[in-house]
Amino acid sequence: MGGFTSLIQFTRLTKRYGSVVAVRDLTFEVRPGEVYALLGPNGAGKTTALRCLATLLAPSSGGASVGGVDVAADPIGARRQIAFLSASMGLYERLSARELVVYFGRLHGLEGTRLRERVEELVDMFGIGTFANRLCGRLSTGQRQRVSLARALVHDPPALILDEPTLGLDVLSGQTIYDFIRRERARGKAVLFSTHQMDEVDLLADRVGVLRDGGLVAEGSPAELVARSGEQNLARAFLRLVTGELGDAVAAAP
Ligand SMILES: Nc1ncnc2c1ncn2[C@@H]1O[C@H](COP(=O)(O)OP(=O)(O)OP(=O)(O)O)[C@@H](O)[C@H]1O
Ligand SMILES: [Mg+2]
Repeated sequence: MGGFTSLIQFTRLTKRYGSVVAVRDLTFEVRPGEVYALLGPNGAGKTTALRCLATLLAPSSGGASVGGVDVAADPIGARRQIAFLSASMGLYERLSARELVVYFGRLHGLEGTRLRERVEELVDMFGIGTFANRLCGRLSTGQRQRVSLARALVHDPPALILDEPTLGLDVLSGQTIYDFIRRERARGKAVLFSTHQMDEVDLLADRVGVLRDGGLVAEGSPAELVARSGEQNLARAFLRLVTGELGDAVAAAP
């Protein structure tokens, strides 16, 4: 595993909250130009793993790196390499949507024409124009999600970490995000996202990792996981994996 081709690398990462082991001994990688979906039932450890990668939580043991930068040794350097999107991250309610994106662009060292052009590019890309001057505190769920994406991406980093990016979005907004993820993949980005929606895994993911009780129990392309399970589709294959009915027969060695 590992090697110089990975852009995102988890190496035996374990995260405990007191006596709860939320993520255990997690090892996997995401390469440039690859979309990787992290699946698992509620409480499986997806958000915890992604937050460790995004430098928001310290691993208990093991670690992770982005673009060769170790997240524990150099969190600031690691943050330059990533965009992190999570519904739990708040927006500044008293800034307008555009002001918020500008603010985060400045934090990332953008200024002048470069900043203005990047902000307008993102406003166009995510259809923010009609509410760009509205305060973040007054936006709908889907509008907030678009602004959160623009904010996360303002520095155009090589690795995208998206925790349930389409949660609460309508079909059209979901489609905007799918199109965006495909474009970013074509530009050579590594995209790691969590989801509960098997249709979006089928549409987007090159590879899938399935977490159960904090550990990776299967990994492969969606087609591989379906074939190994003997089931008709990914949703059924997933159910088998997380209920453990087939045990090692379908579990790939991670
Ligand atoms: N701050 C915390 N303190 C204590 N336990 C926590 C904390 N955050 C998460 N946990 C526990 O860690 C485990 C993993 O939670 P996590 O949020 O990573 O799961 P998840 O896979 O993202 O679930 P979901 O699909 O519901 O978003 C759960 O058992 C959860 O209760
Ligand atoms: Mg979660």
